[in-house]
Amino acid sequence: MFFIRLLLASAVTFCFTSFVFGATVLVDDEIRALRDIAKTLGKYWNFDEDPCSAPSVWARDPKNDAVNCNCNIPNTTGCHVVSIYLKEQSLPGTLPPELVNLPYLEHIDLTRNYLNGTIPPKWGSFTRLVDVSLLGNRLTGTIPKELGNISTLKNLTLEFNMLSGSLPKELGNLMNIERLHFTSNYFTGEVPETFAGLTTMKDL
Ligand SMILES: *[C@@H]1O[C@H](CO)[C@@H](O)[C@H](O)[C@H]1NC(C)=O
Ligand SMILES: *[C@@H]1O[C@H](CO)[C@@H](O)[C@H](O)[C@H]1NC(C)=O
Ligand SMILES: *[C@@H]1O[C@H](CO)[C@@H](O)[C@H](O)[C@H]1NC(C)=O
Ligand SMILES: *[C@@H]1O[C@H](CO)[C@@H](O)[C@H](O)[C@H]1NC(C)=O
Repeated sequence: MFFIRLLLASAVTFCFTSFVFGATVLVDDEIRALRDIAKTLGKYWNFDEDPCSAPSVWARDPKNDAVNCNCNIPNTTGCHVVSIYLKEQSLPGTLPPELVNLPYLEHIDLTRNYLNGTIPPKWGSFTRLVDVSLLGNRLTGTIPKELGNISTLKNLTLEFNMLSGSLPKELGNLMNIERLHFTSNYFTGEVPETFAGLTTMKDL
């Protein structure tokens, strides 16, 4: 009897540890973040399937309608969202501040939707973001100076929106920036002098 109990206990422990440490599913915090993000963007995602184990459901069209995961990020357990592509999906909502709750996110492409409202200042707390395109939406307001804090950023595409105001001098802190595209908005004033320090820039 004792032996059987011991066997059972170790089986339960084994299952639990493989769930916690060997899991190839998206971590709970990021599932919750995706639910908030879906609501704010006005996007339908099928949460009956795990985004990282069911790429056929969550990544239907690699560059246009896809959520992609990485399950092998050093010193982390489980899987994490690294890119979101929602290009020409007729999204009717606004930009979700909750995107920063996906801490391993590197690429965001929301090109050509109907998103309105402003760019969330909270986006300044991204720590791995490389590439953002918001081209062709209905965004208003100014570029938040906080975006100058995203030191990993290489591509920032804001073309064809209704953004206004002056360009923040803090964008001169983007030490890895390669490409800034701001055409067709209502920006005013001068290009900040701080842009002269952006030595990695290839395309402005
Ligand atoms: C992983 O953690 C170890 C020990 O804390 C550390 O030495 C190593 O640099 C970390 N690796 C990465 C890629 O962060
Ligand atoms: C965004 O668009 C919706 C309708 O699609 C409208 O109700 C809302 O007022 C708009 N918000 C802004 C900030 O323009
Ligand atoms: C930046 O955008 C251009 C054009 O879409 C692309 O060719 C390039 O690979 C992007 N660079 C990065 C670092 O994402
Ligand atoms: C980000 O930038 C703003 C304004 O440039 C600054 O006040 C803030 O301390 C920075 N740091 C964080 C973590 O947001």
